Amino acid sequence: MNRILAVHGSPRGERSHSRRLTEGFIEACLAARPRAVLTRREVGRASIPHVGEPFVAAAFYPQPESRPPFMQADLALSDVLVDELLAHDLLVISAPMYNFSIPSGLKAWLDQIVRLGRTFAVNQDNGVAHYEPLVRGKQAVIITSRGGHGFGPGGPNAALNHADSLLCTALGFIGIEDVRVVAAEGEESDRQVFQASCAAAERELVKLAANV
Ligand SMILES: Cc1cc2nc3c(=O)[nH]c(=O)nc-3n(C[C@H](O)[C@H](O)[C@H](O)COP(=O)(O)O)c2cc1C
Repeated sequence: MNRILAVHGSPRGERSHSRRLTEGFIEACLAARPRAVLTRREVGRASIPHVGEPFVAAAFYPQPESRPPFMQADLALSDVLVDELLAHDLLVISAPMYNFSIPSGLKAWLDQIVRLGRTFAVNQDNGVAHYEPLVRGKQAVIITSRGGHGFGPGGPNAALNHADSLLCTALGFIGIEDVRVVAAEGEESDRQVFQASCAAAERELVKLAANV
């Protein structure tokens, strides 16, 4: 693992717990591998445009090799974000839970990088579409903070957690199947409960930094 892409999804800056935990993880990764390089991509506090009709028309244009220039322009940011993803081998996403899912800026980024012909392909088999992932050899770590409790695997609210499942499914769809999720829970509980959860997440992340 030599190239780390950190995608920050929280709209909060210094107050963001997922961002703080992620920065701590990155620091541990860089300490373990001094020659690793880091790129940060802000999506929580920057505006990644939502997908609109021009994007859809351009992304699904039937002859991509002869896509007109105005359509290429509609995909320019997506191309930058896809190139950026492909140029790194460890993807680290700070992803707060928002309304049982992820903040809209992070979803907008996801919509830009799940790209036909660039990160996945569609093959027809007797008229039925089959999807083929095009991304290879990458790992991802998702670091999340949640206000509530019990959203992890086996927890009482696991079925309500559409954040981890969305990210893992979309990343798996494009070929990133080695995905770890580390969570701090209880930001809306009393301080000690949340601090204990953050401390457990930090311990897990330190171990993970030595193994990614
Ligand atoms: C708009 C909004 C929606 C939220 N939805 C949820 C939710 O569905 N479940 C939950 O446990 N916490 C929810 N929270 C609490 C956040 O997950 C919690 O504050 C988390 O620490 C935010 O991440 P950050 O500290 O990195 O900004 C929500 C917070 C906001 C602002």
